[in-house]
Amino acid sequence: MKLLAFMMQTGGHIAGWRHPRAANNALCDIDYFRRLGQTAERGLFDGVFLADYVGYHPVKGAEIFAGLETPKLDPLVVLSTIAAVTSNLGLIGTASTSYSHPYDLARRFASLDHLSEGRAGWNIVTSTMENEAHNYGRPAHLEHAERYARADEFVNVARRLWDSWQEGAVLADKASGRYTDPARITAVNHAGEHFRIAGPLTVPRPPQGHPVLVQAGASATGQRFAAVNAEVIFTSHPTIETAKMFRLAMHAQLAEVGRAPASLKVMPAITPIIGDTKQAAQDLQRELDGLIPMHIAVSKLEALLGNIDLSGHDPDGPLPPLPEAALAGQNSTRDRVLELSVRQNLSIRALARQVAAGRTSHTVVGTAEDVAQTLIDWETQGAADGFVISPPFLPAGLEDFVDQVIPILQKSGHFRTAYEGATLRENLGLAVPENYYEAHPETRIQPEVF
Ligand SMILES: Cc1cc2nc3c(=O)[nH]c(=O)nc-3n(C[C@H](O)[C@H](O)[C@H](O)COP(=O)(O)O)c2cc1C
Repeated sequence: MKLLAFMMQTGGHIAGWRHPRAANNALCDIDYFRRLGQTAERGLFDGVFLADYVGYHPVKGAEIFAGLETPKLDPLVVLSTIAAVTSNLGLIGTASTSYSHPYDLARRFASLDHLSEGRAGWNIVTSTMENEAHNYGRPAHLEHAERYARADEFVNVARRLWDSWQEGAVLADKASGRYTDPARITAVNHAGEHFRIAGPLTVPRPPQGHPVLVQAGASATGQRFAAVNAEVIFTSHPTIETAKMFRLAMHAQLAEVGRAPASLKVMPAITPIIGDTKQAAQDLQRELDGLIPMHIAVSKLEALLGNIDLSGHDPDGPLPPLPEAALAGQNSTRDRVLELSVRQNLSIRALARQVAAGRTSHTVVGTAEDVAQTLIDWETQGAADGFVISPPFLPAGLEDFVDQVIPILQKSGHFRTAYEGATLRENLGLAVPENYYEAHPETRIQPEVF
């Protein structure tokens, strides 16, 4: 079983940060991130996973609480810090293809992969929110299909840039005075719809070839993008049945593009709420849910449904039909919210409470044995290759998981007792991609000379 530790700002439960065991005001604190990384490595996690949004985003109509408006440091800078105090842990950072440039991003991930000796991973997102567009000179967010078209081109050119230095390109030969071998470095001369990039990169090919490519969009277009490009898909499923169906659907799509099932790890998010007894875990959940103010829960629901306005509707009545405009945002999340509302026949108020508490993904409430057994069941029944563990609060929730759940998984033979390899690819069981220019030498282009 593969495991990633999700370090989404203050934890997997929206009110987790208010719990007495949660860190106090730590989101800009180097020791906090070092400790999280070291804890994840102590638990032999494959990696840590940092979400990101490139906009300050208070929830409409609510005073500042916690969610998208919490501080967000640049994930690659945070991961560099964690790299320095760990040696096997994978370092996965989210970066947007809508609001960054392939040359810059390819270079930064290649740098992280070198300095961490092969531990970098890129969570490719197309971004979801209007206010992100406003920070990058755009009047509005790109339309869904166009975001993914840009993402396709972005990832393709990033791969070429990582391949632009071939094996043996760096000589650093003091005797001959040659630092590089120009015959092994190629331009990429990319001229596409969105980008024009000459190349080569300034950075030799990363130790992993390419950083591990992760993806989290789950709409039909998002799934197709993952089938073509991703090696890990981070997903979110409330039940084992929907997770199984999703994994099967991904396998079918992989077959369509000629890829083996093992080349894409399907990893649903799980929030473990752990207690010494089931009762204690249920009490903890009640305590956490009691820390969510209701108007904030409703605002969060409105935001997730595409910034709709529910104020004119009876909170004890059902969700009204959604306006067209609400369909442009994070499609897969919206679908999961609607599915939850129908499946449990929830009023707006009840749905808001569930959504705010993060129940559109799976929450396990129980003892460490219960949590371990759920993960084992999901894995053995084909619902997952591994999990993104999103503790309700940090860092204590991650420590509980490492100290209590990991030993049970190990004892039952479902989790490693030592890292298999040094790189994230080796630990996830993913192959190093071939170098395009080594496989197609006829396409090499001499870089411009000035
Ligand atoms: C589990 C999960 C985690 C995500 N994390 C992020 C994130 O950190 N930053 C971001 O901009 N988008 C994030 N997204 C959004 C997606 O990457 C994607 O851009 C968005 O969902 C639109 O694509 P879709 O309609 O295919 O889902 C996440 C989506 C899911 C399902």
